[in-house]
Amino acid sequence: MQVLSVTSELYPLVKTGGLADVTGALPGALKLHGVTMRTLVPGYPAILAALETPTLVHEFKNLMGGPATLKSGKAKGLDIFVLDAPHLYNRAGNPYLGPDGKDWPDNAQRYAALSQVAADLARGALGSYKADLLHVHDWQAALAPVYLRYSGGPKTIITVHNIAFQGQFPAAYFNVLNLPPQAFAIDGVEFYGNVSFLKGGLACADAITTVSPTYANEICTADYGMGLQGLLQARRAQVSGIVNGIDTDVWNPATDKALAINFSAKDFSKREGNKRAVEKRFGLEVGDGIIHGVVSRLTWQKGLDIFASLLDWLVASGGRLALIGTGEAAIETAVKEAAQRHPGRIGVITAYDENLSHLVQGGCDTMLVPSRFEPCGLTQLYGLRYGCVPVVARTGGLADTIIDANDAALAAGVATGIQFSPVDGLSLQNALVRTQRLYDNTAAWKTLQARGMATDVSWDRSAAEYATLYKTVTKNV
Ligand code: ADP
Ligand code: GLC
Repeated sequence: MQVLSVTSELYPLVKTGGLADVTGALPGALKLHGVTMRTLVPGYPAILAALETPTLVHEFKNLMGGPATLKSGKAKGLDIFVLDAPHLYNRAGNPYLGPDGKDWPDNAQRYAALSQVAADLARGALGSYKADLLHVHDWQAALAPVYLRYSGGPKTIITVHNIAFQGQFPAAYFNVLNLPPQAFAIDGVEFYGNVSFLKGGLACADAITTVSPTYANEICTADYGMGLQGLLQARRAQVSGIVNGIDTDVWNPATDKALAINFSAKDFSKREGNKRAVEKRFGLEVGDGIIHGVVSRLTWQKGLDIFASLLDWLVASGGRLALIGTGEAAIETAVKEAAQRHPGRIGVITAYDENLSHLVQGGCDTMLVPSRFEPCGLTQLYGLRYGCVPVVARTGGLADTIIDANDAALAAGVATGIQFSPVDGLSLQNALVRTQRLYDNTAAWKTLQARGMATDVSWDRSAAEYATLYKTVTKNV
């Protein structure tokens, strides 16, 4: 089966978050299930630079305001199609934001172009390639199923990685999309008088998935649906959740070059060496006490404003923290100020650093993920694999992937982390107290780590679920 995947980020070429990890790992994982997946991405400078032996697939005289070409080739082992449209994508830095930190003003054109080319490529209108199925990710690719509704073509699946990002634009933007007038309607891209890319995709795709079963349920409710719950309820039979896996080659503590010392489930006491390296990198005092770890976008979604308000208490109760993240100015300031107040106890690095994120997983004792909502979350899965015990909010994929260390689960030997709910300061504080108590009980803590490291976080099961869904959709829908 030939599947065309369409995404605005792809690890290891361009990444701002978990979407890249997932789209980068899926093609390899699906190969074992008889699925050949090729991926269409925008021609950002980093992608064009990595493209080996490019072949010209198609030339566009004018694609949303300028000439463009579609190329195919390999990059870092991935089979990709690249939409080289310099007027849209030849910009350095973050794919979505300009140097001022605001969305590029032409993001509607940039991602409508990606979606339109995706639809034409999938239906075989741009050369010899033709897909049996089109699988699009998030709002940036969500218009592709809308274009196909009017042109005809293969069946489509849309995966929602985060329903907070919808690609909404004023109605006037409808004119740049090259869609027929009837698409601006309640069963199309119209959403409360605006254009919504994600809404269009959710209305037109043959199947809708999201990245965990709990989040699939959550987005059908007013609390989590961010306005799209009505549509999702109407399409409930087409909505399902498939939990993300992780690339266990990229994230392998036995071979990971970003670690100070490699280790495995058999000898995870060697983690000590990485703890020392974390202390050094984050300017922390040396000691055996607990070091909490955070690797995250610093945003309201991630609940890190709540955590930041607990930092004086955390230090007073003996904890240390190594945090790497970037994001909202208020949260960055709050954690940086806490680091200044508590030198040696709180280390904060406001940067995006892939290697350092591996070291944090390999050397910290916990991975804190206090999210208000979390479609899947990957850092808790990396934590499991690296013996870094996840402390997580009981929501979305965090609820599905971590087993709370309550007394019964501890006694049964199935616990893999600490969960808390609701997401507020008090309940997070209680979770941290519980975590400290478990940490002080060395035998219990080691069992928790060992159980986490023995958890299957690979893509095996989830890739099989995608493959089954692909078969169902191409045959029956
Ligand atoms: P989200 O996609 O919502 O940000 P995920 O947990 O799914 O959350 O994925 C986040 C990904 O980004 C993980 O691979 C994580 O390690 C990585 N990441 C987040 N912040 C940083 C950072 N400052 N430096 C390096 N990696 C980061
Ligand atoms: C989104 C979500 C995150 C998920 C990732 C990959 O960024 O916020 O929870 O893990 O997509 O699916």
